[in-house]
Amino acid sequence: MDWGMKNRLSSLMGTDGKCMFMPIDHGYFLGPTSKLEKPGETIKPIIEYCDALFCTRGVLRAAIDPVGSKPIILRVSGGTSIVGGDLANEGLTTAIKDAVRLNVAGVGISVFIGSDYERQTLLNLGKLVDECEEYGIPVMAVTAVGKELEKRDAKYLGLCCRIAAEIGAKVVKTYWCEDFDKVTEGCPVPVVIAGGPKFDTELPVFEFVHDGMQKGAIGLNLGRNIWQHEHPVAMAKALHAIIHKNATANEANDIFNGTKNG
Ligand code: 5RP
Repeated sequence: MDWGMKNRLSSLMGTDGKCMFMPIDHGYFLGPTSKLEKPGETIKPIIEYCDALFCTRGVLRAAIDPVGSKPIILRVSGGTSIVGGDLANEGLTTAIKDAVRLNVAGVGISVFIGSDYERQTLLNLGKLVDECEEYGIPVMAVTAVGKELEKRDAKYLGLCCRIAAEIGAKVVKTYWCEDFDKVTEGCPVPVVIAGGPKFDTELPVFEFVHDGMQKGAIGLNLGRNIWQHEHPVAMAKALHAIIHKNATANEANDIFNGTKNG
């Protein structure tokens, strides 16, 4: 791997090789998502617990201070919305030249495997990888989103991750499932765990993240379960402990309660 690619990838992770990505890209198809109306304000108290931010160029330029920023993974796919025909019908929204101008550490793109737009979104990934390899920019593939999320098992998620890696993604983001080790073991590049809609209680979040880490994930990319929570700092701190301090789910829960009450 060339120096620039390696340098960018390592900047997205702690010195332990683990990572906690903070996605705030939801507005690209959902509009002003609850608690993300002002993304710059949302991340202020929690950003210290993250290794990188995942966002679009619009939010980056409008809401994130370029001085002292965390490394950025730029969301470069889109073109659809929650009120449109099919969320899977995505294209590339951002030129690599602009990603380079923004000095990003990586770019992210969704692929919709099993949807009507499987071929289109996988070819988007291939094209993006070709362009990013020129500049040493790692591509994170976001798998199993939209309607296809209903098929959340190791066979389907493993297939998605493997295909994304085969096309050239350097990191793959996917959902946790039972037998998550089957997903990570069949994927030749690092896997990060996605979050999904907000859970009602905290412990199940800590449990699936801990299980995913034990089964080969290198970190997580989890948004709403942190910043839509009424105690976002306590959530961020607890999850950070699972990722970077080998905390168990119960230890994370204690950290959550201690921070919330303290
Ligand atoms: C949407 C995304 C988001 O980054 C993803 O949904 C992560 O956030 P959350 O944990 O809130 O689901 O890639 O396609």
